[in-house]
Amino acid sequence: MRLNLKIWRQTGPTAAGKLESYVADHVSPDMSFLEMLDVVNEGLVKSGKDAIAFDSDCREGICGMCSLVVNGVPHGPDRGTTVCQLHMRKFRDGETITIEPWRAKAFPVIKDLVVDRSAFDRIIQAGGYTSVNVGGARDANAILVGKPIAEQAMDSAACIGCGACVAACKNASAHLFMSAKISQLALLPQGQVERRRRVVSMIRQADAEGFGSCSNEGECEAVCPKDIPISNIARMTREYLRALAD
Ligand code: SF4
Ligand code: FES
Repeated sequence: MRLNLKIWRQTGPTAAGKLESYVADHVSPDMSFLEMLDVVNEGLVKSGKDAIAFDSDCREGICGMCSLVVNGVPHGPDRGTTVCQLHMRKFRDGETITIEPWRAKAFPVIKDLVVDRSAFDRIIQAGGYTSVNVGGARDANAILVGKPIAEQAMDSAACIGCGACVAACKNASAHLFMSAKISQLALLPQGQVERRRRVVSMIRQADAEGFGSCSNEGECEAVCPKDIPISNIARMTREYLRALAD
């Protein structure tokens, strides 16, 4: 395959960026999207040019590091898939592909396609944890949790913190991310001690970071590589209202 790429290049956080054109030649349909970019970068390095900066780590859909907007869609055209798990067979020979970084005030561009997502870390630091001293490890069945609740909590825990939900939202809202973390803990007995405090602290931190609010667009759910449902946002809102009423 031969592909025409339009890639966002930006030398630093305060520099002006622009789309630059590249050609990716000899691309195998079995390559992942990031492998295709690796090949483009090898060509750039061989010709003495600056490689395109982009984030990745596990390349297995686990770590949440990869963060590319492909043809206007965070993580690209494959539903329920991170961009590291997207394969070139999803594109046509000769196609033009536009590649941009996440766009949100709270995720400033560091270089090219790499953005700073430490705002998510600070939201987790504000309340996305349990700090109860539980002593030594207990037997797994010492606190019984029903299977439907355990499954719901596990589904929420599948969030990998990639930030695609923010990138897709016209309000740059972090609600899907926060609601996944809050649901995971609110559903389980272990998360009850700090339940009220957690939701208020995390939402306050998200506001301070510059994330917007939710207007039920559903774009976040559509691009989430882990299929986190927006019903979690309704749960987070209920948690928040209860916390304020207490
Ligand atoms: S909710 Fe989905 S899109 Fe948002 S950070 Fe978690 S995994 Fe990524
Ligand atoms: S590189 Fe880890 S999820 Fe894509």
